[in-house]
Amino acid sequence: MQETRRRVLDALADGPVTGTALADELGVSRAAVWKHVEALREAGFEIESGADGYAVRSVPAYGEAALAYGLEAPFAVEYHDEIGSTNARARELAGTGAGDVVVVADRQTGGRGRLDRAWASPSGGVWLSILFRPDVPTAHAPVFTLAAAVAAARAVREAGVPATIKWPNDLLVGDRKLAGILTEMEGEADRVEWVIVGVGLNANLDPWDLPAERPATSLQAERGDPVDRRVLVQRLLEAFDDLRDDPDAVLDVWREYASTLGRRVRVTAGDRTVEGEAVDVTFPGSLVIDVDGERVTVAAGDCEHLRRA
Ligand code: BTN
Repeated sequence: MQETRRRVLDALADGPVTGTALADELGVSRAAVWKHVEALREAGFEIESGADGYAVRSVPAYGEAALAYGLEAPFAVEYHDEIGSTNARARELAGTGAGDVVVVADRQTGGRGRLDRAWASPSGGVWLSILFRPDVPTAHAPVFTLAAAVAAARAVREAGVPATIKWPNDLLVGDRKLAGILTEMEGEADRVEWVIVGVGLNANLDPWDLPAERPATSLQAERGDPVDRRVLVQRLLEAFDDLRDDPDAVLDVWREYASTLGRRVRVTAGDRTVEGEAVDVTFPGSLVIDVDGERVTVAAGDCEHLRRA
């Protein structure tokens, strides 16, 4: 989105504003302001012009301007009705030097999950990828996956669904999967170049439309009515922005939301399998498992919650 359009949206979100004040603030002509307002009306905003100036009466349900309107986080928004994969698009943007961008799509035709699995992404879900350039050593990067899981869980809980986190980054309701996260990064040994966290969240979907191989659920199924995806995405981005510089808070809230801790688990990584009771998570996101009284730390792997004895 063009910089001036974003600033018009930010000014409108703060309340009624006159065309003259907007033109002064942005350093553009009144005619240019009028063009931006007209473009927003065409995008579905209802904007009244009264004695106090322009006032937004309603915002479209979803889309680039709708997501940017009132967003209290510094991410530029790029929206697509349809795209192959938001992670793939974020990688392209990373190659151009971009940072602090979120790519959002209504549906993906080639969504990817962890372990290179396909990720079903029909219209109605929340499919997004956040590209950012943290100034941290490469070894710290896993904490951003946990931060994204915590941010998504917080947004989902605000929408009334008590999701928990399964290590490292699945959102569950009971034993059914609600969301997953795919993190990609590039960097030298000592410094991260960029990180992409891709979040796939079954929002306004019928779980019957999702592949049957794993039990899945959606916000719509859990709530009994559709969720406002615009508000959900905004809360998720704002929570992620708060957490990305605060690893201690990430781990504290992760522990609070986790359903893995205290459970018997089996973690598989390549040909290594660790089975025992999950007792803690440590920076930058490793799981600590009690195996017959001995503490084993696992940095990555596929985690299975085992039936309680
Ligand atoms: C998982 O396997 O649990 C992770 C799924 C991640 C899916 C999201 S949807 C948005 C982004 N784009 C992709 O292609 N994948 C991620």
